[in-house]
Amino acid sequence: MDETVTELENFDPDWLALREPVDHATRSRRLEGLLAARLTDRERVRVVDLGAGSGSTLRHLAPRLQELGVAAEQEWVLVDHDEDLLARALATPVPAAASVATATVDLADRDAVRDVLSGADVVVGSALLDVLPAPVATGLVEVLSTLDPRPAVLFVLTVAGGATSEPEVPGVAEGFDADQRVHGLGPDATGHVADAFAAHGWSVEREATPWRLSTSPLLDAWAEGWFAAAGVPAQPLSAAVVPHEDLLAQ
Ligand SMILES: C[S@@+](CC[C@H](N)C(=O)[O-])C[C@H]1O[C@@H](n2cnc3c(N)ncnc32)[C@H](O)[C@@H]1O
Repeated sequence: MDETVTELENFDPDWLALREPVDHATRSRRLEGLLAARLTDRERVRVVDLGAGSGSTLRHLAPRLQELGVAAEQEWVLVDHDEDLLARALATPVPAAASVATATVDLADRDAVRDVLSGADVVVGSALLDVLPAPVATGLVEVLSTLDPRPAVLFVLTVAGGATSEPEVPGVAEGFDADQRVHGLGPDATGHVADAFAAHGWSVEREATPWRLSTSPLLDAWAEGWFAAAGVPAQPLSAAVVPHEDLLAQ
């Protein structure tokens, strides 16, 4: 298998670091504002980050909530099955607004997920839903729906499929999306999870959050994996639009 694809599937820390600034710039400010509006009168907020990786969401959202008027002490729990990524998160300076703990949990383990979500006011996940198989994603919504009170849930930067490039290369998007569906929900993820939340009585808001890439190391790295997963010979790209979607359930 192509090395870059292997790295992307294993969530190489260099790949996560490369995408972090673009992810931070892309996340829906509107949905963050709706989330913050629920929290402005709180003294303490427990935030559980599912599939936290090396801590990108913590570094973005903790100061962002403060900017949006959330004065609460933020207690973050970073959850992932990859201990090495969690160790990297702890080795990076923690935003002043937050205290941080980690939990090594497989999201397919419902009992462990229920335990780690206990007492959560906010549950977040970034670039997560598309890599999960349908039963795991459905199980997450089912566990979230048993919590009393229910937290607010913000899942951001879920791959939405149908990427376009300059120059156009026919068949790559279809091939890549089909490959994504072999490994997880892929581009069907936000729709699948939105339906599951709605079936359990949650109110759901969605917003498109596409990456708009021009010549850059991120474009090169993304394109290498895009072509390889599609089984199409790579060629240089000058730009790409990579659709993602954010979802807030409450
Ligand atoms: C694309 S990375 C995103 C990481 C981070 N949220 C970010 O935005 O940089 C997906 C993360 O989900 C984690 N993950 C995937 N499947 C998981 C599972 N079944 N249980 C726990 N973590 C999982 C991976 O280890 C990885 O850290």
